[in-house]
Amino acid sequence: IRRKKISVIGAGFTGATTALMLAQKELGDIVLVDIPQVENPTKGKALDMLEAGPVQGFDANIIGTSNYEDTADSDLVIITAGIARKPGMSRDDLVATNAKVMRAVTEQVVKYSPNSILLVLTNPVDAMTYEVFRTSGFPKHRVIGQSGVLDTARFRTFIAQELNVSVEDVTGFVLGGHGDDMVPLVRYSYAGGIPLEKWLPKERLDAIVERTRKGGGEIVNLLGNGSAYYAPAASLVQMAEAILKDKRRILPAIAYLEGEYGYKDMYLGVPVILGGNGLEQIIELDLTEEEKKALDKSADSVRNVMKVLN
Ligand code: APR
Repeated sequence: IRRKKISVIGAGFTGATTALMLAQKELGDIVLVDIPQVENPTKGKALDMLEAGPVQGFDANIIGTSNYEDTADSDLVIITAGIARKPGMSRDDLVATNAKVMRAVTEQVVKYSPNSILLVLTNPVDAMTYEVFRTSGFPKHRVIGQSGVLDTARFRTFIAQELNVSVEDVTGFVLGGHGDDMVPLVRYSYAGGIPLEKWLPKERLDAIVERTRKGGGEIVNLLGNGSAYYAPAASLVQMAEAILKDKRRILPAIAYLEGEYGYKDMYLGVPVILGGNGLEQIIELDLTEEEKKALDKSADSVRNVMKVLN
């Protein structure tokens, strides 16, 4: 029996936070990777985290490196490398720059960990997951993107605040691309097993849906320089845990579609089962006409971003 090995590519705000949360949950040994720099901030962050182990009581080796040889035989690779959004920038503005980063990173990752599962966070994430998929040559079940867990977390936060109940008792479902056109599915969202429509009037729900859609921008504007990283990291860790412990959790994730929901040859956020093989299954829900129209709009936005890739 050996510990799982997790590589986190990009040791910025999100990558470093993800590494710490992975260690705190003892999900495996962690290799934090960033580009070579004059000093050694990646090594420094990794060592600093490692030294939190005795205090918090976790056993996980954590190293920082710019050498992909150190990532060899990773079970899971989480990609957060790239540039983050600045105020006034849409997620889509990032596309060309971050696509180049995805290609460079993926080539190195697959060379050393040909059997790994790849989990992508870098924005615009639907398009970046597609870029990682086609660069890697991996089967679709081993290339997955994160957005729905985060979008749902935001939705659940706002609902719990509004109802003044525990976040643990609120469930939500968000479909579509990780952008302002995402589709929070109120019909499939509950507090304590009771449909949200029974808790709140339509206009309050609409306002919360709207805030969820713009949740990333709300943080970008508050931070002033950079984008959200605590909740994104927590979301990556929940997906990582589902995979590494073969939990078969039902979560929204960015998956490669081959006709599901009527879309082909693209990545989009849909409900899936996550387990030891990565994406175990895509769940197809019945949508109302209005929901399908909203999802079409979101898929169109993702396709527009993908045009920049070729
Ligand atoms: N290889 C490895 N690391 C890279 C590369 C590369 N080719 N290019 C950039 N990086 C690193 C940067 O050096 C930096 O340390 O990626 C890191 C990104 O960290 P931050 O700038 O702190 O950005 P962060 O807030 O973590 O966001 C990263 O996640 O949520 C998304 O939109 C966000 O795409 C962005 C990504």
